[in-house]
Amino acid sequence: MYNGPIAKVKCYNVSMQPGFLFGAGTSAHQVEGNNVHNDWWAWERSRNDIDHSGLAADHYRRYREDLQLAKELGHNAHRISLEWSRIEPDPGKFELKAIAHYRDVLLEMKRLGMTSFVTLHHFTNPLWLAERGGWEKRSTVEHFGRYVTAVAHHLGDLVDFWVTINEPMVYATEAYVHRRWPPQKKSWVAMWRVMRHMAAAHRRAYRIIHMIIPQARVGIAKHTIAFLPAKRQLDDTVIAQAQDTWFNHYFLSLTRSAHDFLGVNFYFTSQKTVNIFPPKIENMQWDGPQSDIGWPVRPEGLKHVLLHARRYGVPIYVTENGLADARDALRADFIRGHLRAIEDAQAEGADVRGYLHWSLLDNFEWDMGFGPRFGLVEVDYETQERRPRASAYVYKSIIERAQASVGGNGSYQ
Ligand code: BGC
Repeated sequence: MYNGPIAKVKCYNVSMQPGFLFGAGTSAHQVEGNNVHNDWWAWERSRNDIDHSGLAADHYRRYREDLQLAKELGHNAHRISLEWSRIEPDPGKFELKAIAHYRDVLLEMKRLGMTSFVTLHHFTNPLWLAERGGWEKRSTVEHFGRYVTAVAHHLGDLVDFWVTINEPMVYATEAYVHRRWPPQKKSWVAMWRVMRHMAAAHRRAYRIIHMIIPQARVGIAKHTIAFLPAKRQLDDTVIAQAQDTWFNHYFLSLTRSAHDFLGVNFYFTSQKTVNIFPPKIENMQWDGPQSDIGWPVRPEGLKHVLLHARRYGVPIYVTENGLADARDALRADFIRGHLRAIEDAQAEGADVRGYLHWSLLDNFEWDMGFGPRFGLVEVDYETQERRPRASAYVYKSIIERAQASVGGNGSYQ
């Protein structure tokens, strides 16, 4: 837990510690385009009722322009993911051109003075791996280890923060219980196996990366929901605590000693109440602001989860937080509100050191396709033109004021 002094710096009524990281994130399949060797690509092709990722935001070719834009928008940190299926399109055959591409991306981030967060698995799998049973199979842990070894050798000198796996619980439930994502199974047993294998894969990756780069900082990006009791009554509290233990903390308990930092992805606050007659558990109605896809905007939930994350005793980075807001009506207040929530959590001892908005660019929102617009920067998918939204400039002034007040460039290192 952070026990040192917290220097307060005012900016748009938001205060941050000196050296705080501000930036945004993307993931390979959502922005790169043409990820033809992964299971999502194959699944999209098998259906005609969903968008196909196709060229996405063409970020694989336009990364220089996009990183430059992020820099111009004041970001001093940036999160990307590596596409495993580009790096290892066939089992054990590593594609040096793809590795060289990611070296160029990371070198560009260094040149621009941006701290890098690199995710190794963000929902997609090489097709060959999926065809062999994917994360249900124990052998996937070894395959992941082989891929991580290659990446750490080739790119390790350029990575500041390693995020081994993005949102393991979300992946396991969406793909193996809710049937929304490939392989669209409905089996709690399969889900359980996937989760245990992902935990083993994280632990293995943690060891491998540290063996190759002893000073590396390795963590995961954990989707964390604020489960609040709807009413001050025992049954609501019990439900909230049970959900919190299972969804937010179980995976972390399996990987406990293998985190140098904790990445928190925050989108939701959930309030459920128990109804006795007729017996059922209901979601509380939310009458406040909502994103274009109906997600409630509730920054106080972020403070709640950050305070709960203090128990792990490692620095915390908000590795994702954002909303679908095509008209950009809510995003600026959304960012201010969530940064204030971080500030409040810091004041109560949460060692939060960075905020990465989701997302830098509009992108392919998985089974929801190109409809939801999460970007600080609007993408015209016809022309691939980029247009920063007004909120991107509000975020920029927050960052600039924070950095001017501490007299530094805000870099963590
Ligand atoms: C995922 C992102 C996704 C975002 C918004 C997160 O759970 O990591 O890939 O775009 O949520 O749905």
